[in-house]
Amino acid sequence: MALSLLYLLIISLSFSNLPSSSSSSSSSDNNNNNVNNAARTFIVQVQPSSKPSIFPTHQDWYSSSLSSLSSDKATAPTVLHTYSTVFHGFSAKLSPSQAQTLQSLDHVTAIIPEQVRQLHTTRSPEFLGLRSTDAAGTLLRESDFGSDLVIGVIDTGIWPERKSFHDRDLGPTPSKWKGQCVAGKDFPVTICNRKLIGARFFSAGFESTNGKMNETTEYRSPRDSDGHGTHTASIAAGRYVFPASTLGYAKGVAAGMAPKARLAAYKVCWSAGCYDSDILAAFDAAVADGCDVVSLSVGGVVVPYYLDAIAIGAYGASDAGVFVSASAGNGGPGGLTVTNVAPWVTTVGAGTIDRDFPADVKLGDGRTIPGMSIYSGPGLAPGRMYPLVYAGGVGGDSYSSSLCLEGSLSQVKGKIVVCDRGINSRAAKGDVVKKAGGVGMILANGVFDGEGLVADCHVLPATAVAASTGDEIRRYIATSKSKSPPTATIVFKGTRIRVRPAPVVASFSARGPNPESPEILKPDVIAPGLNILAAWPDKVGPSGVASDKRNTEFNILSGTSMACPHVSGLAALLKAAHPDWSPAAIRSALMTTAYTVDNRGETMLDGSSGNTSSVMDFGAGHVHPQKAMDPGLVYDIRSYDYVDFLCNSNYTTKNIQVVTRKFANCNGAKRAGHSGNLNYPSLSVVFQQYGKHKMSTHFIRTVTNVGTPNSVYQVTIKPAAGMTVTVEPEKLAFRRVGQKLSFLVRVQALAAKLSPGSTSVKSGSIVWSDGKHTVTSPLVVTMQQPL
Ligand SMILES: *[C@@H]1O[C@H](CO)[C@@H](O)[C@H](O)[C@H]1NC(C)=O
Ligand SMILES: *[C@@H]1O[C@H](CO)[C@@H](O)[C@H](O)[C@H]1NC(C)=O
Ligand SMILES: *[C@@H]1O[C@H](CO)[C@@H](O)[C@H](O)[C@H]1NC(C)=O
Repeated sequence: MALSLLYLLIISLSFSNLPSSSSSSSSSDNNNNNVNNAARTFIVQVQPSSKPSIFPTHQDWYSSSLSSLSSDKATAPTVLHTYSTVFHGFSAKLSPSQAQTLQSLDHVTAIIPEQVRQLHTTRSPEFLGLRSTDAAGTLLRESDFGSDLVIGVIDTGIWPERKSFHDRDLGPTPSKWKGQCVAGKDFPVTICNRKLIGARFFSAGFESTNGKMNETTEYRSPRDSDGHGTHTASIAAGRYVFPASTLGYAKGVAAGMAPKARLAAYKVCWSAGCYDSDILAAFDAAVADGCDVVSLSVGGVVVPYYLDAIAIGAYGASDAGVFVSASAGNGGPGGLTVTNVAPWVTTVGAGTIDRDFPADVKLGDGRTIPGMSIYSGPGLAPGRMYPLVYAGGVGGDSYSSSLCLEGSLSQVKGKIVVCDRGINSRAAKGDVVKKAGGVGMILANGVFDGEGLVADCHVLPATAVAASTGDEIRRYIATSKSKSPPTATIVFKGTRIRVRPAPVVASFSARGPNPESPEILKPDVIAPGLNILAAWPDKVGPSGVASDKRNTEFNILSGTSMACPHVSGLAALLKAAHPDWSPAAIRSALMTTAYTVDNRGETMLDGSSGNTSSVMDFGAGHVHPQKAMDPGLVYDIRSYDYVDFLCNSNYTTKNIQVVTRKFANCNGAKRAGHSGNLNYPSLSVVFQQYGKHKMSTHFIRTVTNVGTPNSVYQVTIKPAAGMTVTVEPEKLAFRRVGQKLSFLVRVQALAAKLSPGSTSVKSGSIVWSDGKHTVTSPLVVTMQQPL
């Protein structure tokens, strides 16, 4: 129930954003009317072939359509961006009546209201098994470290002077490159090089809603004033930098996934977020410029694909052969939190690596509580115990957005303060405690945050503790007698490696089921996203707090934002090693070779609970680059397969056209089956359970041999509990490389014992093997008992 209700809620929310087209929705409430009449940005799709010949360019035509909306030329809306590669049309700020007028024109095929997106805020290459010293036949060698592949990073821009972006020893810019280095504030054209081969910025959408940007705090150029884009770009394709560390932590060699790949920065995120009209312009440019991979660590609310500028831009990219990876979001550990879920996007969740930064709390009663922190600087006096106070005052309310200490600022001088983690900046809370005279901070998770710990570059001695141990500390403070008031200290232990278990699914990593298409399992994979070391700009302290004046060349951040560019870099390596692979083939290789066991040999744990994680948390599993280079078989998908998928998802012809720019005849597709028949490397079915009868479905899949000629694959079925699964045929004999063979999977389930409104998720797998390759697909069966 939860699933379908939320699904409906999201859809109806998104529809309520559309310009009202029926009189019944007009409100008698004046205030409401005023809000509804406010102009906002829309992305307008047009039929490009309808352009009257009197207009020399599409831009002239669009401007003319807009000036006709207003009797006064001076107040007529203006074109913010024109789109011509992944989408045909333009964006503009329109009143609801202007939007309606445009929508009524024959050549206007869709009007999409803009959404604002948010950022989903190095030992990781070694953890993934990528070493520069490896012999021939390994992924880095075979791909020549990703040389001549271009990764477009749509983000907050870039700090080009970082060593991670030097171009020493790189060959000339690939000849196919058509992009530009766009100059701007503190960003001359000459700053691009053979590593950073392109840089652009898109701010018209942001500024049409927020007014002109504040140029003392933001650069009107591709330069990064936040740090996020510099960090993600260097994860994807930073070159080798030694020595690298943040404040002495995580010392070693820093390297991106594809150290020789070229980078193009597309800055779309500004102080107020990332605006759809700017994001779509970045997709349009990235594909026209010649990017091979687009990396997007940004997301928002899930809406149907025809209202989702990221899904639309990503479709156009995928249609042009460009691989798109996107972060799953940080809304975990709850279900249905995954974002960027379109089946033509590779959706990446976050896991831990085998490195952490222990910083334990010692309590006055002798107990030691494990914590996690990256703090360096004047410390607490060794051996001394400090008075301990709890400032939360909200009983561990994990949704609290208070900055800690409100109203009790005078009582913390010389003390260590326990704050609830809450939903806002963790480092900012330390800043508040420091300014109030506190000597240290313990940031305790609430129930919602669970047991997962994130290390931060705090501005004072501070550490993070789990919900359960946070409660122990809160209880210790509450029950300490006046004779022995509570005391504590924090012991920083530096960097620890070869941590077990790893990987663990990060507690914040967003989870399935997929709220828009439950028959497509999302996230697709997980990759390193906790405590990741990567490049960082000047002028932004590592804590991100305004008062933090420390400068570091590298910083350690966590988020699915950090996981996504790992996969973007790997996709570049795979495409370099296999130039003929489609984006879907690359994703298939990453998914069917992913692993689900940790370095203890047991199923990966979920960081939020410490319990075993599931397919809803990790999708196909954790990426294994070396195996992905040689997957044996791939599940390929072409653009027309996605059209069939949209038909079978009951999208209208008109809505399909918004995404695909093509007229779709759905009659054939509907005869061919259901949306679960998209040739995806995972299989997922949702059964609505009525009564006690058996439920059954079938999937058709086609695999392409990308291994060796004359190979024979045999299937192994691991059914989920309580169901029967058969595969026909059970043997696939390939004569040639490139040959495709199909098989049929039948799934039969008996009704489960479910109370009305509840859901059960069971998973198994289908594995094809020729003795050398193992090609694994998760098979997920969700049963819902309607209310
Ligand atoms: C721009 O930001 C600076 C620094 O925060 C602030 O002092 C100034 O008032 C801002 N200017 C405008 C026009 O908002
Ligand atoms: C973790 O497992 C324990 C024992 O099976 C169970 O009681 C608990 O509810 C689980 N926690 C979560 C968050 O699923
Ligand atoms: C599409 O509509 C058909 C007919 O109403 C229904 O059986 C099917 O389940 C729908 N599919 C999806 C994915 O909603």
